Amino acid sequence: MRIAIAGVGYVGLVTGVCLAELGHEITCVDLQKDRVNLLNSGRSPIYEPGLEPLLTKNISCGRLFFTTNPEKAYKHAEIIFITVGTPAKEDGTADLDQVTAAADTIASQITNDVIICTKSTVPVGTNEKIKQMIDKEKNGPFKTTVISNPEFLREGSAIFDFFHGDRIIIGSDNPEASATIEKLYAPIHIPVIKTDIRSAEMIKYASNAFLATKISFINEIAAICEKLDANIEEVAIGIGSDKRIGNHFLRAGIGYGGSCFPKDTKALAQLAGNVQHPFELLDAVINVNNRQQSIPVKKAKEIIPSLAGKKVSVLGLAFKPGTDDIRESPSLKIIKELQQEKAIVTAYDPIAISTMQKELGNHFTYTNDILEALWDSELAIIATDWEQIKKFPLYLYSEYMKNPVIIDGRNCYSMDEVKKYPIHYVSIGRPSHMPTIVEVNQSLLL
Ligand code: UGA
Repeated sequence: MRIAIAGVGYVGLVTGVCLAELGHEITCVDLQKDRVNLLNSGRSPIYEPGLEPLLTKNISCGRLFFTTNPEKAYKHAEIIFITVGTPAKEDGTADLDQVTAAADTIASQITNDVIICTKSTVPVGTNEKIKQMIDKEKNGPFKTTVISNPEFLREGSAIFDFFHGDRIIIGSDNPEASATIEKLYAPIHIPVIKTDIRSAEMIKYASNAFLATKISFINEIAAICEKLDANIEEVAIGIGSDKRIGNHFLRAGIGYGGSCFPKDTKALAQLAGNVQHPFELLDAVINVNNRQQSIPVKKAKEIIPSLAGKKVSVLGLAFKPGTDDIRESPSLKIIKELQQEKAIVTAYDPIAISTMQKELGNHFTYTNDILEALWDSELAIIATDWEQIKKFPLYLYSEYMKNPVIIDGRNCYSMDEVKKYPIHYVSIGRPSHMPTIVEVNQSLLL
């Protein structure tokens, strides 16, 4: 089929590349010329495992094309996916400017019947507005159908998720159009759930809010475990083995980040407030997450009361492994808090250094070498559970750091392993490991 994609951010790019892989003819439109040129040369502006080989392959097969010219994309398209961003406004509501702009452009360019499929995360009722807008502004009697088709791709495993997702949601009031979209996805054999448009829009927000709730819930249990000398890892296995609860998203840590959970939880809380239903549970989930991101520096200060002038290594900048995305990453808050304490920060990440440099500048040292980050430092804060960090031998902390204190915000190391080393190790929801009293006193004196 001839398909256009409006917006080549993370969702648009993955969707375009994967649909091209299924044999469709895909034209992706984006306003940013540099991005479009880069993509046409077969290179991806974002780091996503497995994306670039599929991008190059489908461009060379002539099935995938990127342009800044909307006419080229929309004029004869049979399906148009809207995949533009819906960032959070200051008050938490979703900013729909890019969606409105895309709908305007689509209306001015279409020349035949078309299905508009919205993948952008939009508040309930938005797709109806998109349809009204396009119907009002289009230049002919073409039939436009709007479908809500939310995405559930995780950064870092988006290509896998596209082909192996748990479900495809098709929210539509038009059975014929809905059957066309179902057929589009048929080769990947993922169960399809058909709903009305508003329910599909809600499914996206409710899914992210529920997952965020699981994370804040386990982080609350972790905090109580710490006070009662229980171990959150064992508790999570125990509760997650109940199929009704499920074992996913029960990893305690320093909170969720990324471009989705923080934004979508706030937008849903706002959406609820707009219909006079204060979403108290979700408000608590958001508050717990904000608190969670401040835990590392708080815990560090309980051990080293003054961090001023001390070298501190922050291990991991990305909001999770497998991506160079640092949006709402706990590391942002950690670094800012460390800077307020006048600590000398050295930050390690295998791939997210340049994205962090764009955000926080060069006011501290970056390295892609863990040893260099740890050398002579007095505190190491683990913020991302990269494999490189999880596999990094604990004895090297003792060898490279001055009186090693580790705050492991992602529980990367097993307590059995930690106990073998003379390090002060504090993690989330697990008993702390202290070196001998003499060593602790020495570290406080230095
Ligand atoms: C999330 C959803 O998982 C996707 O289904 C959805 O499509 C996407 O948002 C979106 O709305 O576009 P993503 O933000 O890529 O995907 O990342 P997740 O893997 O869900 O992780 C989010 C955050 O939660 C990360 O900071 C991660 O470290 C944290 N997390 C996750 C935990 O702290 N504990 C866990 O047990 C799981």
